Parts: sequence; structure tokens; C-alpha cells
Amino acid sequence: MSREIQNNKLIILGKLLAGITHEIRNPLSAIELELESINLSEQKLEPEITESLKACKEATERIKNIIESTLEFSRRETRGASSHSLNGIAEQTLDLLSAAARKKNVALIRRFGKNLPKIVVNKNKILQATINLVNNGIEACSKGGAVKIQTSVKKDGTVKLDVIDNGVGIGKENFDQIFSDFYTNKKGGTGLGLSVCKAIIADQKASIKFTSKLGEGSRFTIEFPVSLREDSYGSENTNN
Ligand SMILES: Nc1ncnc2c1ncn2[C@@H]1O[C@H](COP(=O)(O)OP(=O)(O)OP(=O)(O)O)[C@@H](O)[C@H]1O
Ligand SMILES: [Mg+2]
Repeated sequence: MSREIQNNKLIILGKLLAGITHEIRNPLSAIELELESINLSEQKLEPEITESLKACKEATERIKNIIESTLEFSRRETRGASSHSLNGIAEQTLDLLSAAARKKNVALIRRFGKNLPKIVVNKNKILQATINLVNNGIEACSKGGAVKIQTSVKKDGTVKLDVIDNGVGIGKENFDQIFSDFYTNKKGGTGLGLSVCKAIIADQKASIKFTSKLGEGSRFTIEFPVSLREDSYGSENTNN
């Protein structure tokens, strides 16, 4: 499939997705209002019913978050770089992929570092990269597998995000190819996920690397150098 056709398909898909999520908002608000009014009614409710109502409210809240994340992601990119929390980006990635993981019975595990400095990046671009990585992790796992998303700061101040899976792993003979356009071993895969990831990450002045062992799993790491940290961004430090 030519890249042009593929890009067009992705654009159409994005538009469809934005339309659907937008339309889900209204009935969802109606459900929320109804739940609220049952809760506020004068009637004394059985404890089990109060519990069920609470569970329904929490579930609608979760749907709302997923919809907001999806809409934000599908909105046309107009802004450049600004300060963002890496944990926020990681959380949003997991929100968007939690259904896919559940469907495959793959656990998503958060290991978020505390007090991470904010990074100055184009959030939607980084989100696009992290979604690709976590998605690959989920696809690499068999039932009962796990994908861990981990954020931390290295000793030298680099902020990093790891996506670690215990899936099929990558054979050494394929290490050179996985970032190439159209390299895929999946039925229905485009083989563009990682090449797009690499281009986005380079464009944001960050870097991406991986380690993997066949049959054991893979770790993909995005590193944001100190120059992208909010606390040093734009400083005229010519000593390094
Ligand atoms: N976490 C991973 N574990 C094992 N193999 C991986 C992993 N990530 C990528 N790969 C290998 O690299 C190939 C290229 O990945 P890439 O994301 O570019 O394309 P894809 O996942 O095959 O297709 P698409 O992303 O378009 O659905 C995959 O087909 C797979 O063979
Ligand atoms: Mg992929």
C-alpha cells in the first residue's frame, strides 16, 4: 500500500473516530444526569442500589475521560511545544489503550516516578509515539501478559519513559529493521508505527532505543534530554 493511500486512510479514520466520540458525549451526559437525579431523589434507596449507582457513576466518569483523551488526540495539531507532565501523557496513553489491553487480557502496569520535571514538547506528537509503543507491547503479549509503563529521571537529569512488555521479543537478526518503513510481521500491520515513532521523537529532539530478547520481551525507552526540561528549557548554557 502506498504511503499516500495509508495516510489518507489514517486521516479518514481519525475524522470518523472524532465524530463518533463527539456523538457519544451527549447520551453519556444524559446518563450522568439521570444517575445524579436518582441519587438526589427523596426516596430512601437500598444499600445495594446505592452501591450499584456509585459503580455506574464511576464507569461513566471513566468513559468521559477516555472520550476527552480521544478527542484531544484527534484534534488537529496547531500548537507547538509547551510544558507537559510526562506522567500525564503516560496516563492518557493508558486511558486510550485500556480497552485494547482488557480485550486481550493483558495487564497495563503503571510505575510513575514522583516529582518528575515537566518537559517542553508537542504533547500530541509524544502521545502518538507512546500509543504506538504501548500498542506494540500489547500486541506482542499473549493472554495474561503485561505491559509496564514506567517514568523516571536519570542521574544525569534525563527524563525517561520505558514501555516494557513480557511478550514474544525480537530476534537479533531483526534489530536493524524494526524502525524501517513498512517492516512488519503482523497480519494487517502497516509497519509504520515504529518508523513514525522514530521520526516524531527525533523531531522533538528526544531519542528512542530498545532492548529485546526473543521469547522474553522488549523494552522501548524514550529519553528527553535535560535541554527539554521546563526548568532548563531556553537557558543559554554554552558550557555543555
Ligand atoms: N514490543 C514489541 N515486541 C515484539 N516485536 C515488536 C515490538 N514492537 C515492534 N515489534 C516488531 O517490529 C515490527 C514493526 O513495528 P511497527 O509498530 O512499526 O509496525 P506494526 O506494529 O507491525 O504495524 P502497525 O504499527 O502499523 O500496526 C512489528 O511488526 C514487530 O515485528
Ligand atoms: Mg505497531
